[in-house]
Amino acid sequence: MTSINHVAIIMDGNGRWANKRFRPRIWGHVRGSYVVSEIVQAADDIGLRALTLYAFSTENWSRPLEEVSTLFKLLKKFLIKERQRIITNNIKFKVIGEVASLPEETRALIRELESITEFSTGLNLTFAFNYGGRAEILRAVNAFTVSHPGKSMSEDDLERLMYRPETGNVDLMIRTGGEQRISNFLLWQMAYAELYFTPTKWPEFGASEFKKIISHVSGRERRFGNVSGQVSLDQVVATAETNKSIYIQGASSNVQ
Ligand code: FPP
Repeated sequence: MTSINHVAIIMDGNGRWANKRFRPRIWGHVRGSYVVSEIVQAADDIGLRALTLYAFSTENWSRPLEEVSTLFKLLKKFLIKERQRIITNNIKFKVIGEVASLPEETRALIRELESITEFSTGLNLTFAFNYGGRAEILRAVNAFTVSHPGKSMSEDDLERLMYRPETGNVDLMIRTGGEQRISNFLLWQMAYAELYFTPTKWPEFGASEFKKIISHVSGRERRFGNVSGQVSLDQVVATAETNKSIYIQGASSNVQ
C-alpha cells in the first residue's frame, strides 16, 4: 500500500467526551473501547503491518481508583471479546509495558493470546499498557549493561532489546483529543514519525477518519533528515558549485 506501515495512536479525549455529555469519565473509556475494535479492524482491512495503541501509561496510576480499575477491566474484556477475531484474522498480538502489575487472570489471558498468535503473519497489534517510553529505553540499556559489562551500546543493540523489536520505527503517530504532545509514548521508535493531531475525541473517532489520515499522510514526503527529493551529496555539491544561491535557498527551505 503506502509508505505508512506502522501506526501508533494516543487515544485521548475519553474523559472530556463523557463529561461534555454529563456522564462519568469511565463512560468515555467504555465507548472508547468500542472504537479500539473498529480501528483494529480498519488497520487489518487496509493491510497495515503494525498498529500500536497507548491504552494505559505509567502516569495513569494517579487517576481515581475507579477509573484505573475500569481501564484494567476493559483490557480484560477486549481480550475475551476479540480473542477469536484476532486468531482468525492472523493478527499477531502483544502487550508491551510493565504487565507484572496486572491481575494474574488478565496476565494469563495476555500470555495465552500472545502464544497462540506468535507465528501469525498479519497485522502486528500491540497494546501499550502500563507503558512509558523512557522506562522502555532504560530497561533496554540496563539489560545490555548487565550482559555486556564495560561495552558501549549501538543503536542496533538498543533496538534488539526493546519490548517489540519486530514492529520497528513508527511511520505515523496519531493523537486524538486535540492535545499536541507525545506523552512518553514510543520515544525511540518515533524519531522520524509523521505526527498527526486531530481534535476528534477518541470515542467519536472511527475507521473513516483513520483511513483519511493515512491517505493524507501518505501524500507527505518523508525525508529522514535528507533534503527534498532525496538529493545525493554529489548532486548537492555539483549544484552548489554551479549556482551557489540556488543551493543555499534549496537547502534552507528543504531541510527537515
Ligand atoms: C486518555 O483519555 C485515554 C486513556 C488514558 C485510556 C485509553 C483507553 C481506551 C481508549 C479504552 C481502553 C480499551 C482497551 C481495549 C484497553 P482521557 O480520559 O485522558 O481523556 P481526557 O483528556 O478527555 O481526560
